[in-house]
Amino acid sequence: MAASGEPGRPRQEQVAALVVVGSCMTDLVSLASRLPKTGETIHGHKFFIGFGGKGANQCVQAARLGAKTSMVCKVGKDSFGNDYIENLKQNDISTEFTYQTKDAPTGTASIIVNNEVKTLFNPAPAIADLDPRFYSLSDVFCCNESEAEILTGLTVGSPAEAGKAAQVLLERGCQVVIITLGASGCVTLSQTEPIPKHIPTEKVKAVDTTGAGDSFVGALAFYLAYYPSLPLEEMLKRSNFIASVSVQAAGTQSSYPLRKDLPPTLF
Ligand SMILES: Nc1ncnc2c1ncn2[C@@H]1O[C@H](COP(=O)(O)OP(=O)(O)OP(=O)(O)O)[C@@H](O)[C@H]1O
Ligand SMILES: *[C@@H]1O[C@H](CO)[C@@H](O)[C@H](O)[C@H]1NC(C)=O
Repeated sequence: MAASGEPGRPRQEQVAALVVVGSCMTDLVSLASRLPKTGETIHGHKFFIGFGGKGANQCVQAARLGAKTSMVCKVGKDSFGNDYIENLKQNDISTEFTYQTKDAPTGTASIIVNNEVKTLFNPAPAIADLDPRFYSLSDVFCCNESEAEILTGLTVGSPAEAGKAAQVLLERGCQVVIITLGASGCVTLSQTEPIPKHIPTEKVKAVDTTGAGDSFVGALAFYLAYYPSLPLEEMLKRSNFIASVSVQAAGTQSSYPLRKDLPPTLF
């Protein structure tokens, strides 16, 4: 994810302040009382199609907060792909760089990093031997507990342990590291403030935590692009709050709040 403010541009050639390079996936969700065994057919009681993919989720959350966004991804030349592009448009996301292909969808993502912009990297799904350039090229490196464990080999089950893992990730060259901790909020540290800081979140009644991480990353990208002078700790408090709203409703993108439904003090 990359963010750059371009306030001086004339309106007609306004560019996105936030560019997301990531996946667009169609979720086919069946609700059933249990999982089928191999080759078995069982009755489900509900089925729905949802819009997912970590990159697109983050982009939708940022757009719903009012960010001018563009989604860089490739979908298939089929009805799901057509519907996905329509979903991006419905969320006011530019699809200028959203492509469609006749080939089967591939799992590869190409990431182009231009150092004129701020980069926020979310290593999901994480691999232990991540290319070291991802650390040195990331202004903000944000992952969850299990990703931090994979990347560092350390156990991350508490804010104190997350702080230790964040120190290891910071040493690999990121400017800022954030580890999200579900209901416990997040932990952060940076090259300028290398002492881990725990930022707890509100206690809420969680209904469905799917996509909370992407809501958090999308909200953080929004603040980095639109409120760059806000202290990082304040951005994280607000991102915690927005993600905590998303866990109180069902679904992934369907649970992401719009700016108009959030307290004006967040903006
Ligand atoms: N139960 C909860 N109560 C309040 N806030 C929550 C809860 N779960 C998650 N959050 C918020 O969402 C953020 C991200 O959650 P989490 O660390 O679980 O990400 P994640 O594991 O990537 O999520 P997922 O994979 O489910 O999308 C947390 O930092 C917090 O702000
Ligand atoms: C962290 O994110 C990954 C996706 O990369 C997900 O599979 C995993 O369940 C998440 N971990 C936690 C603790 O939520």
